[in-house]
Amino acid sequence: MTSKKVQDALNKQINAELYSSYLYLSMAAFFESHDLQGFAKWFRLQADEEYSHGMKIFDYMHDIGGKVTLSKIEGPKTDWDSFLSVFQETSKHEQEVTKSINDIVDLAMAEKDHATVNFLQWFVGEQVEEEATAEQNVRKMEMIGDSKSGLYMLNRELGSRVTQ
Ligand code: FEO
Repeated sequence: MTSKKVQDALNKQINAELYSSYLYLSMAAFFESHDLQGFAKWFRLQADEEYSHGMKIFDYMHDIGGKVTLSKIEGPKTDWDSFLSVFQETSKHEQEVTKSINDIVDLAMAEKDHATVNFLQWFVGEQVEEEATAEQNVRKMEMIGDSKSGLYMLNRELGSRVTQ
């Protein structure tokens, strides 16, 4: 049986994943408002992906006979100083998510909750990818600098994303 402590942490993580979804959707709206539909599409798919992460935990909680308790989702930021700062914030945000996943793994280990430790391994692997992708996007934006044609090309590249 998964302890109340671990269940509370998992519920908190559901909220964090749904907040991530909301944040990325807000970034998508920001790019839409600047006519960068490729960037907007990428962030919209990222928002879908975060929602699916939240639902993965939602389903797991039910599999283990736990109780899902949803809480208020904080309103995300709606404006950014520059396009680069959106990507920088994404990268920083993913590092925070990684820390929060690692903290739950530590807690589950301390509680000898092997099932939850095993369940969270998927998230540990996923965060490696999420951080790498976010950081690559920052590097690409830095390379582009003030180049309008570079921005146009990256907008096209990110807009070609087809799956979560
Ligand atoms: Fe669900 Fe991007 O971490």
